[in-house]
Amino acid sequence: MTATLPDPNSSTPAATVGNTPVLWIDQPLSPRGRGFWAKLEGFNPGGMKDRPALHMVTQAARRGELAPGAMIVESTSGTLGLGLALAGIVHGHPVTLVTDPGMEPIMRRLLAAHGARVELVTEPHPVGGWQEARRLRVREVMAAHPGSYCPDQYHNPDNVAGYEPLAVELLAQLGRIDVLVCSVGTGGHSAGVSRVLRRHFPHLRLIGVDTIGSTIFGQPAGQRLMRGLGSSIFPRNVDYSAFDEVHWVAPAQAVWTCRALAASRHASGGWSVGAVALVAGWAARTLDPDTRIAAVFPDSPHRYFDTVYNDEYCARHELLTGPPPEEPEVIAHPGERVVTSWTRCAAVQDPVRVGIA
Ligand SMILES: Cc1ncc(COP(=O)(O)O)c(C=O)c1O
Repeated sequence: MTATLPDPNSSTPAATVGNTPVLWIDQPLSPRGRGFWAKLEGFNPGGMKDRPALHMVTQAARRGELAPGAMIVESTSGTLGLGLALAGIVHGHPVTLVTDPGMEPIMRRLLAAHGARVELVTEPHPVGGWQEARRLRVREVMAAHPGSYCPDQYHNPDNVAGYEPLAVELLAQLGRIDVLVCSVGTGGHSAGVSRVLRRHFPHLRLIGVDTIGSTIFGQPAGQRLMRGLGSSIFPRNVDYSAFDEVHWVAPAQAVWTCRALAASRHASGGWSVGAVALVAGWAARTLDPDTRIAAVFPDSPHRYFDTVYNDEYCARHELLTGPPPEEPEVIAHPGERVVTSWTRCAAVQDPVRVGIA
């Protein structure tokens, strides 16, 4: 058999990013035939954030903000770190990643294996929490390495733009999309994917999924166990006007959903996957059966074997409390009360603009 080999000189690890599959998910989250389409971003080499990592780096180089061989420095809870490590290898930049003790040891080793240097902050900032502590450390590292570049995923519009191909893939895979369910951390993928989809489907409903204890949608900062989604700052990449509603999910509810998905559909992931699937399953149960729902699953389960999928860890954090309720609680506006369990709010506002933060 003869095969046309790709040109080895133009074969790059960057070409392995994208074109991820979609999977139909109904039971056990919704009745058979009434489900949603999960976009399995865990099929990327590092996860969903390989996309914006490569895009932010190439755009910065194009604008001359990132010189050849200069250091890339970023604050990350992991997924973007894997993407930046990939971008560093592809484009020839050393990569330093600032994180906190919440990062899973397996992730730290994985990042180091891919050539990144991992810096750990040891104390949260008294007001801005771990995220602010990490941001300050990034500034210190940059000061020590003149010419270094920080992509700043929380505020960089290229993070949002990097998700255009994801939306284009969804369009090709699903044709019509009525509802999009996305977790929110920096706000990048919810803004980037919905922006493109709405050009085709102006009535698209965007459902944001956050964690309890996150400030993004106007709740006070609280302790956060879940990684990836949620924040203790107000990232400028969150496009508040794009959301029709927001759900806050508690870690035990995400854990139950992750485990149910892993056991029944094989495809699963981490905290954000569990939270998104819980909400997308609810949407599939409650909306008109013809509604076509897409949900973004940002990563795969392996990194979470010592947390979400570890009985001892989950017991210690009281996360094995059984199935979540059928319906979320409801609040009229984010300031109504502090939510501690799965809760829905249809009034989405920018907390900084309306002055509740
Ligand atoms: C695993 C995971 N899920 C979800 C998110 C949230 O995505 P975004 O930053 O695009 O809002 C992140 C962001 O870091 C993540 O790492």
